Amino acid sequence: MSDIEQLVAQATAEFAGIGDAAALEQAKARYLGKSGSVTELMKGLGKLDPEQRKIAGVAINSAKERIESALIGRREALRHAALEAQLKTEALDITLPARGMPTGGLHPVTRTLERIEALFRSIGFDVADGPEIEDDFHNFTALNTPENHPARSMHDTFYLENAPGLLLRTHTSPIQVRYMETHKPPIRIIAPGRVYRVDSDATHSPMFHQVEGLWIDENVSFADLKGVFTDFLRNFFEKPDLRTRFRPSFFPFTEPSAEIDMSCVFCDGNGCRVCSHTGWLEIAGSGMVHPNVLKHVGIDSEKYIGFAFGMGPDRLAMLRYGVNDLRLFFDGDLRFLSQFR
Ligand code: PHE
Repeated sequence: MSDIEQLVAQATAEFAGIGDAAALEQAKARYLGKSGSVTELMKGLGKLDPEQRKIAGVAINSAKERIESALIGRREALRHAALEAQLKTEALDITLPARGMPTGGLHPVTRTLERIEALFRSIGFDVADGPEIEDDFHNFTALNTPENHPARSMHDTFYLENAPGLLLRTHTSPIQVRYMETHKPPIRIIAPGRVYRVDSDATHSPMFHQVEGLWIDENVSFADLKGVFTDFLRNFFEKPDLRTRFRPSFFPFTEPSAEIDMSCVFCDGNGCRVCSHTGWLEIAGSGMVHPNVLKHVGIDSEKYIGFAFGMGPDRLAMLRYGVNDLRLFFDGDLRFLSQFR
């Protein structure tokens, strides 16, 4: 074997025996570095005559290439082995079950409110809003509620300490007033929101929800109230033959006033525990807006007339989902709430 071929064999064998990258680079220097064996051979070419130089040059170049490729091959092999070793020590146990991402859901009352809004939007009602901390004027005075009305007493309503005249609204009716202060008829809105009363048992909570309705135009009648509300309930409960009943009642801000009952959705009016064997469920207060309310907001009560109602969506949610205790909605117990996801 020529010296050159021997050099290639030696380099290849040496590289193959090296186990770490740093040692490999040192070995490379011995062959291919500035004073490495191959470089020395190149330098020797100058002493040869042209004919021999040509032949030797080709041989040295070929040897250099083969040594380089042996080096590269070994480098790759070492890198691969290092990676393998690392993967072995850092192995992840991907069989461990993931922690999971609990998914939330809309609160049943929120779902009910959205359903009510969608149904009223579909017949051209807008959705209005108002503050939960109200003033005496919007909650009572503008709604024709006299100073001596029982709702105005300190123990029936939450008043704010150190803020005279401010209270937690007892109904959504003040939104009627606020809306009419800033909009001219025709007016067609519903106004959902939280309201507050000093009341607490299985069917009353100090905080609950109401949805106000208001339609004011030149000739809106009590028949329109009956039609709109009955149609709404039938759609809400998906019961085309649900019946309603309007009982004479009293509210300072409507005249005439009526309590709206609907046939019990559990027994279809035959009488059961849910409806206390009456066949009817009380669902809303309503009436034709009192002229004094229109006067307070500067709407001509000779020209405009309309109806208002206030219903309890919590009650609707209880009936729709078959929930028998109102407090379940507000306790924040996930065992209950997650059933509505
Ligand atoms: N605001 C009344 C209540 O809370 C309900 C109602 C609203 C009655 C609109 C008539 C008209 O009891």
